[in-house]
Amino acid sequence: MTELHGTIESHPLNPGEEATTYPPTPEFRAQANINDSSVYWRAAQDPEAYWAGRANELRWTKPFTEVLDWSNPPFAKWFADGELNVAANCLDRHVAAGLGDRVAIHFEGEPGDTRSITYAELTSEVKRAANMLTSLGVKAGDRVAIYMPMIPEAVISMLAVVRLGAAHSVVFGGFSAESLRARIDDAEAELVITADGGYRKGRVSALKPTVDDALALHGGGSTVQKVLVVERTAQGVAMEAGRDLWWHEEIPSFDDQHEPLGFPAENPLFILYTSGTTGKPKGILHTSGGYLTQASATHRDVFDLKPETDVYWCTADIGWITGHSYVVYGPLANGATQVIYEGTPETPDWGRWWSIIQKYGVTIFYTAPTAIRACMKVGRQVPEQYDLSSIRVLGSVGEPINPEAWRWYHEVIGAGSAPIVDTWWQTETGAIMIAPLPGLTSLKPGSAQVPQPGIDISIVNDAGDRVDRGQGGLLTVRKPWPSMVRGIWGDPDRFVDTYWSQFGDRYFAGDGARVDEDGDVWLMGRVDDVMNVSGHRLSTAEIESALVEHHAVAESAVVGADDETTGQAVVAYCVLKSQQNILSEEDAEGELKKHVAAQIGAIARPRNIYIVNELPKTRSGKIVRRILKQLAEGKDVGDTSTLADTMVMSVIQAKVSGIK
Ligand code: WT7
Repeated sequence: MTELHGTIESHPLNPGEEATTYPPTPEFRAQANINDSSVYWRAAQDPEAYWAGRANELRWTKPFTEVLDWSNPPFAKWFADGELNVAANCLDRHVAAGLGDRVAIHFEGEPGDTRSITYAELTSEVKRAANMLTSLGVKAGDRVAIYMPMIPEAVISMLAVVRLGAAHSVVFGGFSAESLRARIDDAEAELVITADGGYRKGRVSALKPTVDDALALHGGGSTVQKVLVVERTAQGVAMEAGRDLWWHEEIPSFDDQHEPLGFPAENPLFILYTSGTTGKPKGILHTSGGYLTQASATHRDVFDLKPETDVYWCTADIGWITGHSYVVYGPLANGATQVIYEGTPETPDWGRWWSIIQKYGVTIFYTAPTAIRACMKVGRQVPEQYDLSSIRVLGSVGEPINPEAWRWYHEVIGAGSAPIVDTWWQTETGAIMIAPLPGLTSLKPGSAQVPQPGIDISIVNDAGDRVDRGQGGLLTVRKPWPSMVRGIWGDPDRFVDTYWSQFGDRYFAGDGARVDEDGDVWLMGRVDDVMNVSGHRLSTAEIESALVEHHAVAESAVVGADDETTGQAVVAYCVLKSQQNILSEEDAEGELKKHVAAQIGAIARPRNIYIVNELPKTRSGKIVRRILKQLAEGKDVGDTSTLADTMVMSVIQAKVSGIK
């Protein structure tokens, strides 16, 4: 069972900040997709009927007759006797409806190359790729690993895999060879789709060499038979005969005719790995019908999407759940036109995002608070040089958005008028769960506010009782929802234990939250050993185990410390082995930072590493991370009387303040 150390009381809200609300303007409300608040109570009356209605907005090859099967909780089945093809819902359906000429993707490469791809073209490319994958032996039930930059072929690959009824496991391109290999092994993927590299910060960032390294690990033997390589950067990579194939050499020989088969609604769609409280990442399993229903419905409702006229842009990488649900499946199922940008916001300069918005006339923009704070630091004079007047809805995801960043985003990017939808959800929830509906909700900076129609959220105390308004507690979901996680790949017990053992009958998300006097929800951060760095989820245990794998490290403790830009930052305390004379204390910090980046990926690189002689522990030998976190945040460490040796802290404290 997840061990909790609540930080609920330690997040006071700025009094007065709640007072300012931003109601929808009459004009926005009048044109909004949803402007009748009865949707909430109608959905609450009969959530299954509500979701059945939303599911029927998709195209089913065999209609479902059963909505929810909850006979074996917590393993839900939605629309189980129905059949559909997810890729055909995202592609063929729109072409058949006469929308083939609509642009699906405006692609903007980091070096400045561009490509606009219509729904008809995207459909042809996916069909061709599906035929190619079939020739490589991919079939329903298989898993394919995808390790790609943000280029159209990444989307094409995902859709081609699922068109065949196989499941993808997208691994973020910033992950190391070790992390990639662990994910390939866990899912037993037989094919890896990658690229030679991608462009990041003006440079080529290699991918294929990392795939080679991953497959060479552990003596080389892996489940992988073939590696399909898209040429993006042409920096020259090794190709292993018999195993590695160039996409551009293979693809022309395949036909762009391909009949999509219907697959059961509960057919696995993808596995996406995410960090948990223990060392090993969890393979979060999502299935087809329910996932697509909620991803597309929330994408239309929360962003007030008008597919005929909007130009939508979500800056997330496809390596994360946001990229799955709100770059690939939600927008494409809705027939939206969207921007996909390969690179980083500061390349070649901090005007890049704003110039893209101006160029394509982006109307809906969805990004993370950490990016907004980084732009704030650079200053409003940069976005002010661009015409951002096309923007009509802004979104935020990944962590709570602090009111200061909210107001900057609203004023500087949204011209003081575009509503901001702060969307709370998780890899496990698959789609948005709590967010304003921009035509209905009076916005409160810093709060995700309202559960989506058909979603039953309740904030409870440790005993599982709903807390009163004005109180804090733990965020739970009481009833199953269509896009919910169906399990942890290969580990049903861990699924039950991680999310359902806390309260028995309901899903526990791992977040603390408060309900205000109006019933709006304020997220307060994780209450378990999961950190949130730049909206990415990292596990303290995973980084600790990477550190102790280093030959010089005897023991380590990792904490997520508050950070102005990234939300939280990784701070590690390490005890070196006494006999080690390999590393001087001075070299250790740099070396260990590099080691963590190589083991897990650059996103996990600690901001600080403090070499200490001992870690603070209780008499029973448990490391007291709370104290280490406070110390890393420059706060008073408070009561240390529970420590076995209170002297330890003064030594560490001297060290931390000395280094700072
Ligand atoms: C965790 C999930 C959902 C896609 C991005 C992250 C935090 C996410 C918000 C928000 C406050 C948020 C939670 C959650 N989180 N969105 N709007 N307000 N917190 O997905 O990696 O699965 O992480 O991110 O702590 O549990 P993820």
